[in-house]
Amino acid sequence: MRWICRGVSRARDNRRVSDASLTTRHPHPPTGQDTVVRKSAIRARENVPIPCRLGRIKKNVDKEDWNCRYQGDDLLWTERPNRFLVTETEGLATGRALDLACGEGRNSVWLAEQGWQVTGVDFADVALEKARHLAEDRGVRVDWVGANLLEYAPPTEAFELVIAFYLQMPIKLLRPIFARAAGAVAPGGTFLIVAHDPSNLTHGYGGPRDPAVLYTTDDVLPALAGLEIERAEPVVRTVETAEGAREAVDALVRARRPRR
Ligand SMILES: C[S@@+](CC[C@H](N)C(=O)[O-])C[C@H]1O[C@@H](n2cnc3c(N)ncnc32)[C@H](O)[C@@H]1O
Repeated sequence: MRWICRGVSRARDNRRVSDASLTTRHPHPPTGQDTVVRKSAIRARENVPIPCRLGRIKKNVDKEDWNCRYQGDDLLWTERPNRFLVTETEGLATGRALDLACGEGRNSVWLAEQGWQVTGVDFADVALEKARHLAEDRGVRVDWVGANLLEYAPPTEAFELVIAFYLQMPIKLLRPIFARAAGAVAPGGTFLIVAHDPSNLTHGYGGPRDPAVLYTTDDVLPALAGLEIERAEPVVRTVETAEGAREAVDALVRARRPRR
């Protein structure tokens, strides 16, 4: 069966998106960065339906499936930052921050508002377009990078904060991504990972139902060579739903590269 997603029609915002804004820039060009004008972004801009192959989602790893999920005026997630980002970064001196799988940019934008110099990376053009609008609306600057994290190589030891929130894919694919991300943490810097814990399947609300894309903190730790683990544990997040408050279980890892 095929689903058809309607393209984005930004009723609240009649600004036309220039071709230039569809092309990503990065101070340190990563490998795997999209270098061609992306068809999905053009389809979204011109309100052309994107064929949605939801029946063929490949363990959360397909870019066009994600683009399809992000279609529509509403945010797929929220514009509020994740609560663990707020609590776990409290007291950190601001600097350069890298938000991997930034989606619609809620965490990147919040970090920029706190004074961080932020780079947000995601492969979903439709999400990045929404992220650009969110940053514009909130009056902050973020460098948005369209890239596939399976290939993206951030610069070494270049960020005082690296975050990866709810990047759900098989751990075999994730470990190299997290290893490169760990390598991007500057001396004294922090790496923060938050994901849906496997126990959320039985004890929590929402999140992916496919166990193959869920991972524990223990699954992640082998990828974090050179970092000191400050915190690694399941954490509970209260979610307000139409049926009342529910609890979701996340896996949280906070690690730091020692100063030399
Ligand atoms: C559940 S969303 C989380 C978005 C954001 N971190 C947040 O918390 O709001 C997961 C994001 O991962 C992105 N993603 C999944 N696989 C990816 C890949 N291989 N390369 C880049 N982005 C990817 C998706 O496009 C999606 O935006």
